[in-house]
Order: sequence, then structure tokens, then C-alpha cells
Amino acid sequence: MVVLWALVLAVAAGLAAAYPPNIVLIFADDLGYGDLGSYGHPSSTTPNLDQLASAGLRFTDFYVPVSLCTPSRAALLTGRLPVRTGMYPGVLEPGSRGGLPLEEVTLAEILAAQGYLTGMAGKWHLGVGPQGAFLPPHHGFHRFLGIPYSHDQGPCQNLTCFPPATPCNGICDQGLVAIPLLANLSVEAQPPWLPGLEARYVAFSHELMIDAQRQGRPFFLYYASHHTHYPQFSGQSFVGRSGRGPFGDSLMELDAAVGALMTAVGDLGLLGETLVIFTADNGPETMRMSHGGCSGVLRCGKGTTFDGGVRVPAVAFWPGHITPGVTHDLVSSLDLLPTLAALSGAPLPNVTLDGIDFSPLLLGTGKSLRQNMYFYPTYPDEIRGVFAVRSGKYKAHFFTQGSAHSDNTPDPACHSSSPLTAHEPPMLFDLSEDPGENYNLLGNGAEVDQEALEAMKELQLLKAQFDASMTFSPSQMALGEDAALQLCCQPSCIPWPTCCHCPGIPP
Ligand SMILES: *[C@@H]1O[C@H](CO)[C@@H](O)[C@H](O)[C@H]1NC(C)=O
Ligand SMILES: *[C@@H]1O[C@H](CO)[C@@H](O)[C@H](O)[C@H]1NC(C)=O
Ligand SMILES: *[C@@H]1O[C@H](CO)[C@@H](O)[C@H](O)[C@H]1NC(C)=O
Repeated sequence: MVVLWALVLAVAAGLAAAYPPNIVLIFADDLGYGDLGSYGHPSSTTPNLDQLASAGLRFTDFYVPVSLCTPSRAALLTGRLPVRTGMYPGVLEPGSRGGLPLEEVTLAEILAAQGYLTGMAGKWHLGVGPQGAFLPPHHGFHRFLGIPYSHDQGPCQNLTCFPPATPCNGICDQGLVAIPLLANLSVEAQPPWLPGLEARYVAFSHELMIDAQRQGRPFFLYYASHHTHYPQFSGQSFVGRSGRGPFGDSLMELDAAVGALMTAVGDLGLLGETLVIFTADNGPETMRMSHGGCSGVLRCGKGTTFDGGVRVPAVAFWPGHITPGVTHDLVSSLDLLPTLAALSGAPLPNVTLDGIDFSPLLLGTGKSLRQNMYFYPTYPDEIRGVFAVRSGKYKAHFFTQGSAHSDNTPDPACHSSSPLTAHEPPMLFDLSEDPGENYNLLGNGAEVDQEALEAMKELQLLKAQFDASMTFSPSQMALGEDAALQLCCQPSCIPWPTCCHCPGIPP
């Protein structure tokens, strides 16, 4: 497949970029480590993402700290572990009272302060709150077009399909208001018809780029796609086209959106001045079986602290600045805030950050300074602390617990039926020899060598020190829910919640 935007690369690479760069941060939803063609999937159709990977830097060891939407998104935008920002346990609901606290400093706020025009398209999932207090416009985004939470957090009959020809995929959460599409703080459609959404997000993004260029300022686009979260949907030109069923069609539409964004950047002559980062919030939701994505060689998926949940695909592309290649350096989504702050010349916020600037790795002047990665479960507590720690090539699991999100894999350890289990000594894996976390170096039958014992002691010490140093912020989820906080296009209408119905483009 010919990727047209890539043809102008040769031109872009010759241009010296004026600092600071434009930033396009693309975040996929529930996309596994093994789902992209460039990460080895045999039947995905992802030519644009594969082109970004081959002309950019592809990360093999890129981690999110928690394998769930809300905490992962909070970590991405704050550079802080979700237990520090109150974004635990589980995820925010449409009627949650809490949200990402306004005193948290987001990437959008940091870049806006540097003169960037900031915009977000897609899935937020960091809270709505009273009068929309936690929505993106209150967290540094000048513009927002999107759904404030997951698109399955409301009834979704008729939203994902082209009736009557294609059957709809799932009924989603009943008894809630229909999902709203927001333009800044206003409900634009409730519910929006999902197959028409990606085109609107691309148009919104294009407009943001044009306006920023016209105003002579850099832009920050946070493109948080609903793809490839269940229930999958896609526009007419992708339905049945990917060769990988509804999941593949959804991924193909995401890939095409990436291509359209790159074409827009290229048409504005900004390829050499725009850093593009692509990654995902967590691993695949295998409970959906073939509709749930693939963690490739990694173990388990969403909801667990195994690598299939927390290790995600990631690509950074910036022609003329980032040398094409593959890196095995340890990097996290937590590191994006300090890295992008460094690249834009912004001071770091005066808070405890869990991220580490990896701009030297991007620019080819050094390596990632990250040595360790600490993994909390989706329901963390201060007593147990982190469930798993990676240091260098070793990863130790002190606790494991299966998750419904990871049901239906061949490995029972992933499933919701696998209870919370303490491991003493920890399970220890050498991820360089055993990325699938199959062979416990301290398990029965293993020939335990000195190096493994030393690694175990080191990881035990790291965990003890880390847990002792961590203070949880009060949980925002503990504030509970108030059904009246669910956004409604006709406030106080009856019969609630079905009266909250102001549909967008009909199918
Ligand atoms: C949001 O507000 C900004 C600034 O007023 C405006 O430019 C933009 O068109 C609005 N709508 C959307 C969807 O961003
Ligand atoms: C879905 O469409 C059918 C047929 O038009 C209609 O009867 C049903 O009420 C719709 N369901 C929802 C939740 O809108
Ligand atoms: C940073 O925060 C600490 C504690 O909140 C405060 O004491 C200190 O003055 C702050 N430093 C700056 C430069 O704002």
C-alpha cells in the first residue's frame, strides 16, 4: 500500500526545525503490543502506522503504569502515578463526582503556557464533575471535541453500525444517559453516530493546525481515538475491509486517521517541525476474544500487571531530528510530560514527577535514564503497594491477580477467576530471554543461579523503598457518583435518562 504523505519526507528532512516543535500525541484505546503490522501482527492493515514506525523510532519496551483507561490517561497527561493524583481505583463513571484534580498540572497547561494552541479530540475519561468542572477546557485544552468517557459507558444500540445492512456490535451499559459528544463544554450530539466521528476529529485537528500556523504559534494536538476499544465501529469505507473483522476495521480506520493527520501536517509544510508520538493506554481486552486485540508474545492483557497489560506499542516520528530505528530502552508514558516540556523549553511543574525526560534518546544524544518501572494494580492499596517491579531486564511479581478484561486467553493466570495471590519469593522473569513471562526463575524446577538471587534481592529492595516513599492522594473515585451529574442535552427532562436524546447525524 502506498502511503502518500511519506513521499514528502525527503523534503521535510532537509529543513531545520524552529523550536519548539508542534506536537501530535495519538493515543489508541485498548490496543495490544501485538496489534500493529510493525509489531508483528500477521493480518492487521496499518500502513500509515507502519510507515511512522519505519521512518521513526519504534519502542519495544514502552510501558504505561496501570493497565486501565482512566489511570493510564491521568499518567500520560500529568507525568505522575495515578495514586498521586487520586485516579484510582478502577475508572471514572459518567456520574462520578470526582475527576483529575484541577491543581494537577497537565501537559496541555504546560504547553499552553509556552504559547501553544492546544486541542484535544476523542476520549477524555478524566472526569466530568459538577458543571463539567473536570473537562478538557478546564485542564489546559483551548479546544475539545470528543466524548468525555468510554463509548461503551451508555446504551450503544444502533451507534456502531450501518443499519440495516451491518449488525451492531454490543449494547454497552444500560440505564445511563446516551454518550454525549461535546464541543468544548456543550453537548453537540447525544448520542453521536460513531461511524461518522473519526472524520470529524480529523477535520477538527486539521483546523487546529491551520489556525495555529495562521497565528504563528506551535500546536499541541492530543488525539485520543476511541479505536480500538470495544464495541468496535468504523466508517463505511472500512467496514469489512481490513481482513481482520470488526477489530481490524476499527484499527484500519485509526490508521487511516493517522495518515490523514500526517497528510494535513505535510500539506502545511510542517513535517520537519512536528513531533508525532503514537502509543496506547493499555493492552488488549481479551474478554472480547477476536474483538479484543492482541498482546503478541506478551502475557495477559488489560487489567493485569503482566506485560501484556502494561507494555504497549509506541512510535516517535520527527524527520530530521529522530533517527529511524528501534530502541529497547525502558521508557514510560509517564516520561512524556518531562520530555515534551524539555523539547518545548517549558519549566517542569513544582510537583513530584514520576516521569523522566527521554529527549536525549529521541534526539540521538543519549539513552533513556529510566532504570525501573513500578506497576500498581487497578485496585491499589498502600499496604500491598506495587504488585510488580521491572529493573533492567528483570521483572518481579510480588502479587498477581487476574482480571475480567483478560478473560478468554489460553492462560488461566490472566482470568478473573485467578484470585489475588502474594508471591514469596516473588515470581521473577528475565524479560530479555522470556518476554512472555513464562519461566519463573525462582519457581519449582528452575535452577536458581546467583544472578537471579541477586536480582530478586535488588527488586525486593526497590519495592520496599518505593512503597515506603509513596503517599497516596485521596481517591477521587471514592467520592462516589451522582446520577444527576451525567451530562444531558436537555437538563431536567423526563423520562430521564432516555430523554437525554439529541442525536447527531442519523445512520
Ligand atoms: C471551542 O472553543 C474555541 C475557543 O473559543 C473555539 O475556537 C472552538 O471552535 C470551539 N469548539 C471546538 C469544537 O473546539
Ligand atoms: C435502535 O433502532 C431500533 C430500530 O430503529 C429502534 O427500535 C430502537 O429503539 C433503537 N434503540 C435505541 C437504544 O435507540
Ligand atoms: C514548590 O512547592 C513547595 C511545596 O509546595 C514550596 O514550598 C516551594 O516554595 C515551591 N517552589 C517554587 C519555586 O514555587
